Amino acid sequence: MRTPVPDYLQELLENIMTDSAGQVADYIPALAAAPPDQCAIAVSTVHGNTYSVGDDSVEFSIQSVSKPFVYAAALEGLGFEAVDQKLGVEPSGEAFDELSLEAETHRPKNAMINAGAIVAHNLFTIASNDHSERADAVTAFLSRLAGRDLHVDDEVFQSEMETAHRNLAIAHMLRTYGVITEEPHDVVRGYTAQCSVSVTVRDLAMMAATLADRGRQPITGEQVVAPHVARRTLSVMAAAGMYDGAGSWLTAVGIPAKSGVSGGLIGSLPGQVGAAVFAPRLDEQGNSARGIRAFSRLSADMGMHLF
Ligand code: DON
Repeated sequence: MRTPVPDYLQELLENIMTDSAGQVADYIPALAAAPPDQCAIAVSTVHGNTYSVGDDSVEFSIQSVSKPFVYAAALEGLGFEAVDQKLGVEPSGEAFDELSLEAETHRPKNAMINAGAIVAHNLFTIASNDHSERADAVTAFLSRLAGRDLHVDDEVFQSEMETAHRNLAIAHMLRTYGVITEEPHDVVRGYTAQCSVSVTVRDLAMMAATLADRGRQPITGEQVVAPHVARRTLSVMAAAGMYDGAGSWLTAVGIPAKSGVSGGLIGSLPGQVGAAVFAPRLDEQGNSARGIRAFSRLSADMGMHLF
């Protein structure tokens, strides 16, 4: 007899909880205060069934897991040509907070690193008058993917702005090169609000399932982005979603993925499922250590490796 999905996920949760490697992110004060051993796993099928275990109703800030979705939003809104003029699709091979610009064009290498995510945020919100309108536009878009109304966690936003010097420096460099032409502080405020949107692990699994289902939200049925946009987004996630760990991730796990410093990790298996883990202890590359362990098992047990 096959093990029912909830039992399987519970066993998986208990298994990854035995591993206490890694530390919570400490460069954002509000994240440093997070309980390190909260842990949750969710899997959402493209048919709209979501299974979850552990701390699945705990809200945490989406952080870098927002990056592929806002990249998709920019592609959907402005088209490939306009976005490709400002953003590359190559892995950077460097940490997420490096500048990593292409030598001749000065485009950030991809939209998964901070420099590229700041550009994608700016492109998607270019018609906004200020950072609060930018935040509203992004929150509304992420809400359509989650299938419920999301909001910005103001405490995380304020806390992150206090230590946002590196992102401000990156935005000023982008402004110097004309990759953005808007006011750098306002763009970074908008981008930081984007990273501060509160989600649960179930929200993330559904958002990942939307990409897996060629841009169609599995519960609402809304076609949030076009299939070619979902495909492009998954391609860049596969190449660069796990930063300088992207190659070993793709080799071992084989699922397009994206991690964030609050401990979120999503994976989208085209045509099948979106999965998400929330576990705040991070490895040296800034990826959720238990998240990696969970996805390694999921991939092996369910035959989820793409190749
Ligand atoms: O820009 C930052 O530093 C954070 N708001 C997001 C970084 C992040 O989640 C990187 N992920 N591993």
